[in-house]
Amino acid sequence: MALSSLAIAITLAIFSTAGGSPVSGDSFTINLLHRDSIDSPFYDGSMSFSQRLGHALRRSFTNAKRFKSHQKGSTYQADIIPDHGEFLLNVSYGKPSHKVLAIADTGSDLSWMQCKPCTKCYKHKGSLFNPKSSSTYQPVDCNSTTCKAISIDEKPCSSLKTCQFYESYADGSFSNGTVATETITLGDRVLTNIVFGCSFSNDGVFQPTWAGIVGLGGGDYSLVSQLRSFVPGKFSYCLIPFPVTNELSHKSSKMTFGDINFGPNAVSTPLVPVDPITYYYVTLEGISVGNKRLNISDHSNSSKPLEKGNMIVDSGTTLTMLPEKLYNKFETALKDAINVRTMKDPQKVLSLCYRATKVTSVPKVTIHFDGADVELRRENLFVTVSKHIVCLAFAPTSNLPVMGNLAQINFLVGFDLDNKMLSFKRTDCEKM
Ligand SMILES: *[C@@H]1O[C@H](CO)[C@@H](O)[C@H](O)[C@H]1NC(C)=O
Ligand SMILES: *[C@@H]1O[C@H](CO)[C@@H](O)[C@H](O)[C@H]1NC(C)=O
Ligand SMILES: *[C@@H]1O[C@H](CO)[C@@H](O)[C@H](O)[C@H]1NC(C)=O
Ligand SMILES: *[C@@H]1O[C@H](CO)[C@@H](O)[C@H](O)[C@H]1NC(C)=O
Ligand SMILES: *[C@@H]1O[C@H](CO)[C@@H](O)[C@H](O)[C@H]1NC(C)=O
Repeated sequence: MALSSLAIAITLAIFSTAGGSPVSGDSFTINLLHRDSIDSPFYDGSMSFSQRLGHALRRSFTNAKRFKSHQKGSTYQADIIPDHGEFLLNVSYGKPSHKVLAIADTGSDLSWMQCKPCTKCYKHKGSLFNPKSSSTYQPVDCNSTTCKAISIDEKPCSSLKTCQFYESYADGSFSNGTVATETITLGDRVLTNIVFGCSFSNDGVFQPTWAGIVGLGGGDYSLVSQLRSFVPGKFSYCLIPFPVTNELSHKSSKMTFGDINFGPNAVSTPLVPVDPITYYYVTLEGISVGNKRLNISDHSNSSKPLEKGNMIVDSGTTLTMLPEKLYNKFETALKDAINVRTMKDPQKVLSLCYRATKVTSVPKVTIHFDGADVELRRENLFVTVSKHIVCLAFAPTSNLPVMGNLAQINFLVGFDLDNKMLSFKRTDCEKM
C-alpha cells in the first residue's frame, strides 16, 4: 500500500516537472467546440462568416440582460435565455454510456439533458437518453438535502416521490424533469454520482441541436463544483480565435478540470462571492489605453469605496461589456490613439470600426482588475466583421459588465474555486 502510493507520488512528480503541457497533478482535459465552427452541428453553411459573427455579437446583448441578477433564493429558476453559450462539449451519461453534445455554460449550475420518455421535447441530434436502460441512473430522494437545495417545491415529497427540477427562462420557455445522479464520462474520466436534471418536458425557443446544458457555474450543484470529489476544485480554459475559415479545423479550444500549473508570468485577481454565486465575479478597477488610465469610479467622491465584484467573466458571451461611462471614455481614448478615419459597422452592431489595413498599430490596452493587470492584444480588442473592416469588440451596458470570450482569446484562464482566484496567462491556445 505504502509502496504503491509512493510510486504514485513519484509518477505525479515526474508528470508535474515535465515541460510543455501546463496540465499537472490531478487533472484531465477535454475539447471545446465553438458553435460556429464548421465541425459544429450548429454550423450553418448558408451564412457567411460575417453573418455568423453578427449573430454571435447580437447574442452578447441578449446574454448581458440575463446577468441582471436572479431572484433571491431561486438559483435554479434562473432568469436565463436558453440560446446562450458559445462552446459545446461532449459528455457521456450512464452505463452503457450515452454521448451527447451539450452547451458549456459558465452562467448556470445544474446540468440537464433531454430524457426518455419525453412528453414535450425539442429535436436534437442523436437519440434521447433513456434512464431505464442505464444501470447507474438513480433518482434523487425527495427528502434529501440535495433535493431541498435544487427543487423549487416547498414540499418536494408532496406530489411525486422523486425530486423535480424546473428551470424557467426569461423568454417563457422552461425545462423540467427529475433530479437524478448518474455516472458521467468526460474526456478520459469516469465520474460517479453526479447530480443532473433528466428533463422530460421542454417548451419554448430551444435551439434544436444540443441535447442539454453542462453547468460550469460556481454554485454547489454545477458540474465543476461536483468534480471536487475527483479533482481539485479548479478549471481552466484556453480559447482559440473565433472560427473564420470554412475548413475543418484540427485545432480546438481546451478545457481542463483540476490542477493546472500556470508557471511564471500569470496574474491573478480574487473571485468575489456575490449572489447569485453561479457567476464568476471579479473587480474591475479601470482600463488603460497606452499610459492613459481610465478608472471605473468617477472620483467625485473619493471616500466612496469601489464596489467589489462589479464584473463577471463569462465564456458564453462574445463581446466585453463595460459600464457606459467607462466605455465612452475608453472608446474616445482608443480613437484618439489610433487616429485614423473610422468606418461604420456594416451590421450596425459595434460602434468603433476601421478599415483593417489602416490600423497599423494598436496602443497597449490593459484591463486593471484588483491585483491583476491583463494586457490585451489586437486579437482581443478588434474583431474582423467583414473582409476589410475591423471593429472594437467592446460595448457599453447598463447591466452587469462582462468580460467576454474575445477578450480571453489566447489566454489560459484559470478559475480556482477553492482559493477563490482567477488567473490569466498569455498562451498560444492553438499550440496547447
Ligand atoms: C465529440 O465526439 C465526436 C464523436 O466521437 C467527435 O467527432 C467530436 O470531435 C467530439 N467533439 C468534441 C468537441 O470533443
Ligand atoms: C420524507 O420524510 C418525511 C418526514 O421524515 C416522511 O414522513 C416521508 O414519508 C418521507 N417521504 C419519502 C418519500 O421518503
Ligand atoms: C413539467 O411541466 C409541465 C407543464 O407545466 C407539467 O405538465 C409536467 O407535469 C411537468 N413535468 C414534470 C416531470 O415535472
Ligand atoms: C486610478 O486608480 C488608481 C488605483 O486606485 C490610482 O492610483 C490612480 O491615481 C487613479 N487614476 C486616475 C486618473 O484617477
Ligand atoms: C461620499 O461617500 C461616502 C461613503 O459612501 C458617504 O458617506 C459620503 O456622504 C459621500 N459624500 C458625498 C459628498 O457624496
